[in-house]
Amino acid sequence: MKILLLGKNGQVGWELQRSLAPLGEVIALDHDGAPGLSGDFAQPESLAATVRDVAPDLIVNAAAHTAVDKAESEPELARAINALAPGVLAREAAALGALLVHYSTDYVFDGSGNAPWVEDAPTGPLSVYGATKREGEQLIRDSGCRHLIFRTSWVYAARGGNFAKTMLKLAAERDALTIIDDQHGAPTGAELLADVTAHAARMTLVSPDLAGTYHLAAGGETTWHGYARHVIEFARARGVAIKVAPDAIRPVPTSAFPTPAKRPANSRLDTRKLQQAFGLVLPPWQSGVERMLNEIL
Ligand SMILES: NC(=O)c1ccc[n+]([C@@H]2O[C@H](COP(=O)([O-])OP(=O)(O)OC[C@H]3O[C@@H](n4cnc5c(N)ncnc54)[C@H](OP(=O)(O)O)[C@@H]3O)[C@@H](O)[C@H]2O)c1
Repeated sequence: MKILLLGKNGQVGWELQRSLAPLGEVIALDHDGAPGLSGDFAQPESLAATVRDVAPDLIVNAAAHTAVDKAESEPELARAINALAPGVLAREAAALGALLVHYSTDYVFDGSGNAPWVEDAPTGPLSVYGATKREGEQLIRDSGCRHLIFRTSWVYAARGGNFAKTMLKLAAERDALTIIDDQHGAPTGAELLADVTAHAARMTLVSPDLAGTYHLAAGGETTWHGYARHVIEFARARGVAIKVAPDAIRPVPTSAFPTPAKRPANSRLDTRKLQQAFGLVLPPWQSGVERMLNEIL
């Protein structure tokens, strides 16, 4: 089997290079592509020739414009990368009969209420990033290609920068921290996303009826404040030098940190559809975060 992986050096793309390898031959591209193959999502139509030349059975798209605040001031670029380019991949996948795997986000929802979002709940993005990701989903569905769209949330990886690393740095330097406690979601590891992708793609290639949109996030829920506390206390228990006292990690509302893009307050994703369809279990968020901390500490 031939697999075309796009966005190979992102958090999820990097882990997909590992998890997709046992499925077949992986042709993995980043921005710069490879000789004769474009991987540049800012030039959506350039990807059509890439798909035709590689002629994959499976396309996995891990590339995205994920700079949520920056997207507010460059909506055209965000739309090219998050919507138009996935639309081209979908059109070419449909022509080839390939399966397309794509990732979307909790940011397609408006964040209202307290209930976990189900897949067919009405969307209502609050930001350019969310709106462009929603348009990307829609272009994929409209293309008629066989697809898996995984909506996920709060993605982290051991490689590169992440929220946990920032918290550990601040906790070592400062006497007090203020962390947002009115956004609710589940930190989800790139490793988990990549592993589930490999299982689900393999099953969908055998059973095409499994194609569709699924919510994919780690189990349980927390807030950024709960996440930060968990990270800092885990590190403290491991003997890491932490300056901030446990009661000096203070909860604050989102309004304390104004940002160009509005974030949803309720990012909880109901993952029962995915767990039932693929016979998988999504472990609690703490287990992936602790594994990542053990790697970085
Ligand atoms: N991160 C999150 O918290 C989160 C939450 C929900 C959903 N998601 C979704 O999950 C998926 C994977 O996200 P991630 O966290 O792995 O993102 P990431 O680490 O930011 O990776 C995105 C990748 O896309 C690449 N990219 C950006 N512009 C490109 C362009 N013009 N052409 C080709 N590649 C380009 C980036 O390359 P450079 O780094 O070289 O620019 C990077 O390798 C995305 O669909 C994202 O929307 C992410």
